[in-house]
Amino acid sequence: MVILYRSIGNRDRLILGGNRVKLIVKKDYESMSQEVANMVKNEIKKNPNLVLGLATGSTPKGLYKELVRMHREEGLDFSNIISFNLDEYIGIKEKDPSSYNYYMREYLFDHINIKDENAFIPPAKPTDLDRACEEYDDLIKGKGGIDLQILGVGENGHIAFNEPDKSLNLGTSIIELTEDTIEVNSRFFESIDEVPRSAISMGIGNIMSAKKIVMLVSGGNKAPIMKKILSEKKVSTEIPASILLLHQDVTFIITEDVLN
Ligand code: GLP
Repeated sequence: MVILYRSIGNRDRLILGGNRVKLIVKKDYESMSQEVANMVKNEIKKNPNLVLGLATGSTPKGLYKELVRMHREEGLDFSNIISFNLDEYIGIKEKDPSSYNYYMREYLFDHINIKDENAFIPPAKPTDLDRACEEYDDLIKGKGGIDLQILGVGENGHIAFNEPDKSLNLGTSIIELTEDTIEVNSRFFESIDEVPRSAISMGIGNIMSAKKIVMLVSGGNKAPIMKKILSEKKVSTEIPASILLLHQDVTFIITEDVLN
């Protein structure tokens, strides 16, 4: 991959159109997870009332495992932390093991001392879809916005469930999932027919309003999309994650296999 970056130890800075984007390349999944967990820990130490934006998918599982360890062994305190998850499938039951609600309890919330009332996930079965989106935006605003947003990326470049399109939503919205995403995410379901066709997702505006953004990327399957994002020096709604390049404090923490 041809990317323009200057190496500073294992910390690299991409120079893209004059904007400096932090790129940290880690040897493997464990060290990537460790690195981002340390970042989260440092932010919590600086601000015990931190508002965290949280992601799901396979990539952040190692981060959550490490945060659980830090809570148990080092007393990392989540009692005043507020969290907002990026997205949820529409129509899925909360107790369905494929729901993001279940995922968050399984991998993080049930094992740390975050208060139930401080951990927000967009509703899977709202009676009024538009109202639910507005309410989620208001909740985020009401808590002062997101301090640190954790992100993964889809193979097609989506962030949260903001799928490639001619235009992207600023606020929380209902999104029709693309066939690509339905297929890729079918690994979390018993069959492809079980994958919900729509989701409720924070918008690009919600994500870009975060004070700090950290994107975790691991695995050779993400190499093609990351190559586009990091080497083409373009921003496009057809690759939603490319918009992060405009953010003033974004760090990509990637594993070496993404560069292959
Ligand atoms: C899902 C989520 C995204 C996530 C993406 C990548 O579609 N909505 O927030 O970033 O999957 O998931 P994974 O980490 O499993 O590759």
